[in-house]
Amino acid sequence: MPQIKIFATYEELSDKASDAIVDCIRQKPDALLCFAAGDTPKLTLEMAVAKIRQQHIPTATLGFVGLDEWVGIGPENEGSCQYFFRKYWTDPLGLAESQFNFFNALSLRLDEECVRMDEFIRARAGIDLMLVGLGMNGHIGFNEPGTDWNLQAHVASLDSVTREVGQKYFREKTDVAKGISLGFGWLKAARRLLLLANGAKKAAIVKETLQGAISREVPASILQTLPEAEILLDLGAGALIQQKAGHEME
Ligand code: F6R
Repeated sequence: MPQIKIFATYEELSDKASDAIVDCIRQKPDALLCFAAGDTPKLTLEMAVAKIRQQHIPTATLGFVGLDEWVGIGPENEGSCQYFFRKYWTDPLGLAESQFNFFNALSLRLDEECVRMDEFIRARAGIDLMLVGLGMNGHIGFNEPGTDWNLQAHVASLDSVTREVGQKYFREKTDVAKGISLGFGWLKAARRLLLLANGAKKAAIVKETLQGAISREVPASILQTLPEAEILLDLGAGALIQQKAGHEME
């Protein structure tokens, strides 16, 4: 089982997750990091950027890849993952374009985008720290129910839950049928993997993910087989988890 930590608040959870980012960069200035976009990691990234600035941690050799993107959505759209990654991470740190890679989800050759992403990661010898969120259907990135747990970068058809919940990121109604995403092949290979979830609305899927059957229908349930993975929850998201030995309350 992965290590599960439950924090009293979203702020405390985010503070801890931001420490993991800062520690990783301190230990390995040319680390390759990968984060999800979305509501969950926002505060973590804001806190991490503030700490990096306060502590004058150099970032000139750092690498970064975006976990996923909505197919057909360009980077100028506020709902795109790239918009988020630039706003909360690469722009505030002033990273050079050569330091990071995002999926170009407007490309007509998405298969080539996948190859480009896999090669970028391989050239940097894999991902040192991945920080991911949990979808209401148990997805991570756009690894949707039924996904193959061994994929690297790939294109996926989006589940109805993902399409519906995803509307919250867009100003206007936006129908997106596909996503392009790193797969669990990369998640399993990451040197450190953190999954964050906050809020009571995530409590049921958190329980299913961590204490339900290990099933491709709940993609994140594969984490049950990754003892090194770290799950950071707030009280709301952790509300239905049965406390067992090994679940730490912070
Ligand atoms: C977004 C991503 C998604 C989200 C998940 C949770 O890049 O990879 O898997 O992490 O849908 O989204 P939030 O954090 O908005 O609840």
